Amino acid sequence: MFVDGVRTPFGRAGEKGMYWNTRADDLAVKTITGLLERNPSLPPARVDDVAIAATTQQGDQGLTLGRTAAILAGLPMSVPGFAIDRMCAGAMTAVTTTGSGIGFGQYDVVIAGGVEHMGRHPMGLDADPNPRFLAEKLVAADALNMGNTAERLHDRFPELTKERADRFGMLSQQKVQAAYDAGHIQPDLVPVALRTESGWGLATEDEGRRPETTMEGLATLKTPFRPHGRVTAGNASPLTDGATAAILASSDAAKELGLSTKMRMVSFAFAGVEPEVMGIGPIPSTEKALKRAGLDISDIGLFELNEAFAVQVLSFLDHFGIADDDERVNPWGGAIAIGHPLAASGVRLMTQLARQFEQRPDVRYGVTAMCVGLGQGGTVIWENPHHKRYGKGR
Ligand SMILES: CC(C)(COP(=O)(O)OP(=O)(O)OC[C@H]1O[C@@H](n2cnc3c(N)ncnc32)[C@H](O)[C@@H]1OP(=O)(O)O)[C@@H](O)C(=O)NCCC(=O)NCCS
Repeated sequence: MFVDGVRTPFGRAGEKGMYWNTRADDLAVKTITGLLERNPSLPPARVDDVAIAATTQQGDQGLTLGRTAAILAGLPMSVPGFAIDRMCAGAMTAVTTTGSGIGFGQYDVVIAGGVEHMGRHPMGLDADPNPRFLAEKLVAADALNMGNTAERLHDRFPELTKERADRFGMLSQQKVQAAYDAGHIQPDLVPVALRTESGWGLATEDEGRRPETTMEGLATLKTPFRPHGRVTAGNASPLTDGATAAILASSDAAKELGLSTKMRMVSFAFAGVEPEVMGIGPIPSTEKALKRAGLDISDIGLFELNEAFAVQVLSFLDHFGIADDDERVNPWGGAIAIGHPLAASGVRLMTQLARQFEQRPDVRYGVTAMCVGLGQGGTVIWENPHHKRYGKGR
């Protein structure tokens, strides 16, 4: 069961971003302490494991994050922890891995999340890809750059035009602002104290939002990945710093400890695709997860899809015959506006879906899905405990 999820506000990566002087592990710690404060009936010693993901596990993102963050968050020394990496699906994998441990009866309660400080740890820094990738043509040279893989998706599906991608990006910005105005996003943010050259501050909101975005403005942006390309800063997720964490528990432990449960994990799946078009990864992973759950895409009432790139979400929507502006999809916007701190994002999707479930007892099933570098997709299907048929079978 998904008990609760929180995140730090997401910051723009880089020297001008609000977290430039904040350590990555401190962001992760903040989410754990925030979770424990919000769930006082959970005795910290009852946490059986802490899994924290990061894509670049070096420096302040190294040293087995789950363990270091648990110690720094003040959990008893008896609580173990570990680090996880599946690039963008790190936090999602932290949830599915520890959730499986719960399903197998080996854990009662866990904390799972992720962090990525893309300012301090630029994508691919110090990576040393095996030369066999290129020598044996296992992976195309440009497949290691995510923006190029998005351009390749535009090539492969010409109907996914730049105009559609820009419109999707603009709507994401508008939906996030509307969700902020309605107060949907703020309750799951843990404020972070900031130290800047001008003094102390407090991060309380996502920094990179651009609600004033227009189609005219987007049309003028550079295409950094290819001359005359289609992928721009306006239809891609920005480089971002941030952390997320969630409490998962067995239903028995949740009952025993008086923890409310926001979602039930129904099924999950990961799938591999050609790295050159990694953005289509969520299509096979969602098909696999639906099949395992015995569900059809039409059973899904809410989708939280990670917007690594607009074109990549659009390829998913086209595949399943869903309109670009379908109300079930990312109703509060997504990563194009909020940001995508790689290994953290999976739990952001879940946290938002959990809060939407609360407001939408008419929806029984929801999907969280995301694409992953080097050609993968990840999907988790969740059931809404507020639905009248909850737990009653299909
Ligand atoms: C696309 C990308 C290269 C852009 O990086 P960047 O150039 O540093 O981005 P910026 O925020 O500076 O935006 C570039 C310009 O577009 C403008 N811009 C960005 N979004 C805009 C919007 N919605 N409306 C209008 N202008 C916008 C900025 O103001 C900036 O203008 P300037 O050059 O005049 O200052 C970068 O965000 C990126 O690599 N994204 C993908 C990340 C990724 O691969 N993640 C993993 C996914 S699997």
